[in-house]
Amino acid sequence: MSIDVRKCDTVFVLFGAGGDLARRLIVPALYNLYLDRHLPERFRILGVDRDEFDDAGLAAHYRENVSAFSRRGAPKESDWQGFAAGIRYLKADATADDAYRRLAETIAGLEKELGSAAQHVFYLATPPFLFAPIAKGLAAAGLAADRERARIVVEKPLGRDLDSFCEINHALCEGFDESQIYRIDHFLGKETVQNILALRFANPIYEPVWNRRYIDHVAITVAETLGVEHRGGYYEQAGALRDMVQNHLLQLLCLVAMEPPVAYDADDIRGKKMDVLRALRPIPRDGVADFAARGQYGRGWIGGEEVPAYREEEGVAPDSNTETYAALKLYVDNWRWQDVPFYLRTGKRLGAQVSEISIRFQDVPHKAFPASVGLNAQPARLVIQIQPEEGVVLKFMAKEPGSLLRLRPVDMRFSYREAFRTESPQAYETLIWDVLIGDATLFMRADQVKAAWRLLMPVLEAWEENPAPDFPNYAAGSWGPEAAEMLVARDGISWLTPTLSNHDGPNGRG
Ligand code: BG6
Repeated sequence: MSIDVRKCDTVFVLFGAGGDLARRLIVPALYNLYLDRHLPERFRILGVDRDEFDDAGLAAHYRENVSAFSRRGAPKESDWQGFAAGIRYLKADATADDAYRRLAETIAGLEKELGSAAQHVFYLATPPFLFAPIAKGLAAAGLAADRERARIVVEKPLGRDLDSFCEINHALCEGFDESQIYRIDHFLGKETVQNILALRFANPIYEPVWNRRYIDHVAITVAETLGVEHRGGYYEQAGALRDMVQNHLLQLLCLVAMEPPVAYDADDIRGKKMDVLRALRPIPRDGVADFAARGQYGRGWIGGEEVPAYREEEGVAPDSNTETYAALKLYVDNWRWQDVPFYLRTGKRLGAQVSEISIRFQDVPHKAFPASVGLNAQPARLVIQIQPEEGVVLKFMAKEPGSLLRLRPVDMRFSYREAFRTESPQAYETLIWDVLIGDATLFMRADQVKAAWRLLMPVLEAWEENPAPDFPNYAAGSWGPEAAEMLVARDGISWLTPTLSNHDGPNGRG
């Protein structure tokens, strides 16, 4: 049964209301939902933080930020007034005992205003050390008890290793049932990521070839040109493996590798993804170098500008051992994927801002054409473009026009922009809407997060114990360290330049 979001009366409690996440992503997303009439008719945003705001002050702060960060730019006066009328502020310290009693009273007051018993969304846009105290405080004040109407939303990082994740999770689960907990991985809210399931399971043509008989390997690239910006303090504790691989890249892998669901619902889809995580071959503690490579950027050039090395960034130690690049080789030990490598790579300050999944099919079993006709012969590839291009490209061989028989790789392209001529909602819009209607399909279940941490622990430990002697080992603006090349070269392949143009070459290096 589909749920009408307009009828889901809600008090949306935003912890960390004065912080970066709230102003850059969450409130602009809420505002866009409001413009699209995708917020409940009776809705209040209750910001909670220690800053000196009042209701009007918080609204004014958000207005500036919506202008700066919303995909729709500065709000029109009348639209903004309608939205801002629902903004309230509670000054409170999330670690103080009386905060939750006051919160409960404030919520009760807002429900009176709304004239109904609303559902309560507790969005924790706070540093992770506050997750446990907030979850406990809410539970102690009785605010977690209603399983249907109370939901808690948490952002990564959910711990920095298996143990710390279990601790945070334990605190969440003390008061909240798993069905009330929404763990955000914002990649899952991206249209192109959701489209992976549509591509695979709404079309019968892919499934017969989506397996080890036809697929040679899968390569997942999430490349960023940005450095760590003002997040040096956080990033020093995280690194690329925790920041990107543990969540975003492994979730992408799951969507490519999972079995068809019986129904498009949270239990089934998350269960099928969990099967993949469970099937991932453990990385041996004494063989990490055969499965993982790391890098850290040095000085270099991005978009014609010279940029500093990671170790020169604000908040970063001058001898930092933190990786800004990580690559992994993984295997999914099941019938469908046995011995098909999944290569994952991600890094900051790389040659282009691009995320894509490249599915490389097997070579033809017999080469009927003489070698001279297709010097460029390449096995077919299906490229799922996640961003900034949004689409799907099938790369295959075609005959060049002319009387001479020559073959050349060509592209067949589907582009979101051209096909739908409409702007995609941002990931946070999709995810917040899902929280409001109580659909957890695009959120991470505890067992998934745990399995992801368990998989990566040998790599995290090995990297921590053995500082990289060669950092920095790639120049900003390049495609990453030599070690990542070696990782795949051992299998006779090279990372391909992401599909920015019609022409592929190995990493732009030749
Ligand atoms: C976040 C990471 O989860 O994802 C950031 O913490 C990264 O380091 C970001 O830059 C990338 O997300 P997007 O949506 O900008 O590609």
